[in-house]
Order: sequence, then structure tokens, then C-alpha cells
Amino acid sequence: MGQVLRHEVLSVLLENSANFLSGEEISKRVGVSRAAIWKHIKELRNEGYEIEAKPRKGYRLIYRPDRVATEEIQNELSTKLFGQQIRYEPVAKSTQILAHQWARAGAPEGSLVIADEQQAGKGRLGRVWYSPPKTGIWMSLILRPPIPIQQASHLTLLASVGVSSAIINQTNLPIKIKWPNDLLLQGKKICGILTELRGDQDKIEYIVLGMGINVNQQSDHFPSELKEVATSLAVQGKQSYSRASLIAEVMKELEYYYLLYLEQGFEPIRNRWESLSDLIGKKITAKTPQAKVVGVAESLSSDGSLMVRSGKELITIYSADIDK
Ligand code: BTN
Repeated sequence: MGQVLRHEVLSVLLENSANFLSGEEISKRVGVSRAAIWKHIKELRNEGYEIEAKPRKGYRLIYRPDRVATEEIQNELSTKLFGQQIRYEPVAKSTQILAHQWARAGAPEGSLVIADEQQAGKGRLGRVWYSPPKTGIWMSLILRPPIPIQQASHLTLLASVGVSSAIINQTNLPIKIKWPNDLLLQGKKICGILTELRGDQDKIEYIVLGMGINVNQQSDHFPSELKEVATSLAVQGKQSYSRASLIAEVMKELEYYYLLYLEQGFEPIRNRWESLSDLIGKKITAKTPQAKVVGVAESLSSDGSLMVRSGKELITIYSADIDK
């Protein structure tokens, strides 16, 4: 209860941050006594919010810490579906695990799990995903697309399009997609996407779209084995970014491309993916589970595989590590 009211006090302050609001006005809007408002203001200050208080004028929010708790995100959301239900955990093993549990318990499409820190973040191919506290975005979105399971890879590609568009909108940084769904900045990884699903031959029950974005880490924050291959938006953009605003923007772009996909199919996603990708037209080496293919990446096919021209042959790559 106390938590809920604190969120409401914060929402009122956020909505009116240009002006002072009297304690009386806030207490009227939230529906509790002025003494209770004062208690919530003190708690918010303890969490790092700076709230100016002036006699006869009231309160005004002057600084908000970079938090990714529910109310921070919901204040910025402009979506109808994605992020409308949020579960926030300061520390989780992995948001993927929580999202699977929630999805099995019936969470509606668009439900989002966010953690400030993951202790056992999961990457693709059984790798560990480094997820330190307070600097990155670690989140998992639940989808229930009415498509056959064979088309699930569309959603992975759609996610890379949505997330990169959102990051470009917010930062203007030149994000590139590496097939299938790594997001790179200056050749180093800033975001990884992990798609997991549950369903049977005919139908997907749900998809959990896991996204890890390196936002405000400094270069010396990365462990030595990652320094050469990973980077953050802050390192590249030479400034820090609001994680809450970025999450809200990711929800907006993902919802846009998801609804476009349900209405018009994969073609518009494919076009956008090709224009954001840094592979098409380039010479690459694809290490597939069976062989090493060297050739020129020609296009993304309608099933999400990568078409590589090697001599006279056009080879379809379904799964591989790609080097340029
Ligand atoms: C990759 O290996 O590139 C995919 C990394 C996916 C990491 C994200 S962070 C949020 C979600 N929870 C996890 O445990 N993994 C994904």
C-alpha cells in the first residue's frame, strides 16, 4: 500500500515538475493526509530523488535518479499494449525465468519483466550475460503472436529492428544489426536479444523476448574478457542516458513493428532489417554447425535465414556465427 501511494506521489510530481505543487494539492490528488505526503517525500529523497520544498509554495521535483522501477517507465509510456503490465525486481537471477513463470500463469501479451541487476543473466548458446546493477537494461517481454512456430524467427528479427530503431531515436548513435540479432556500435556489441518460446507443432503458446542493452557502463566496468567485444551507449555517445526513457521508447518501437507485422506480414520488417544491417553486400565468413561458408551476404530471406553468395552457389544460412 505504502509503495503504491509513493508511486502516486512521484507520478504527480513528475507530471508537474515545471511547477511547485502545494502539499494540500498533492494530498487531494493522491487522497491521503499531508502528513502522509511528507513521509512519502522523505522516502523518495532517500531513494535519490531531489525534491525542492518551499514554504507557502510546496514541492517540486528537480532531479530524478536513473531508475527503472515501474512508475518511472509507466510515466513515459505511449503504448497501448507493450509495458502496460510491468514487474520490476531490483535483483533477479534472470528476467527470462520470471517471464516464463508469469506467462505460464496467464500474463497478458505485452507484459514486461525488468530487473536492475541479474545474477545469472542468460545469453544465446548457453552463454552468460553480464548484467551489473544500475547501468544496463535487462528485460523480458511476453508475446502471444497468432503465428505458426516455424515463423518464430520473425519475432527475433523484428525485435532487433524495434530495439535498434528505439536506440537510434533516443541517442542518434549509428547502431547496426549483425545477423541474426546482435546490435553493434563501432563493431562492438551493445545489445543482445534472446528469444525463447513455448508451444507445440501448431501453435505458439507464448514467446519471451529477452533484451539486454548496455547503457551507462564505463569502459572499465566491463570484465577483461568483454572489453574487446562489448561497449555501451554511454561510452560511444560520451554521455549518460535515461534507462526509463529508453525502455519506454523500445516498447513504442516494438509495438509499432509488431502490429505492422501482424497486419502486413514479414516484408516491411525484412526491408527495415536490411537497411539497418551491416552485412548485406559484405564479404562474410559464416561458421555453421556443419561447415564454414565464405561469401557475400546477399539478402535476408522471408523465413529469416541469411542468403550468402559463394561463387556460383547461393547458400541459405539458418544458424551460424558470422565474422566479417
Ligand atoms: C545474447 O547472447 O546475445 C542474448 C543476451 C540476452 C540478455 C537478456 S538480459 C534480459 C534477459 N534475461 C536474461 O537472462 N537474458 C536476457
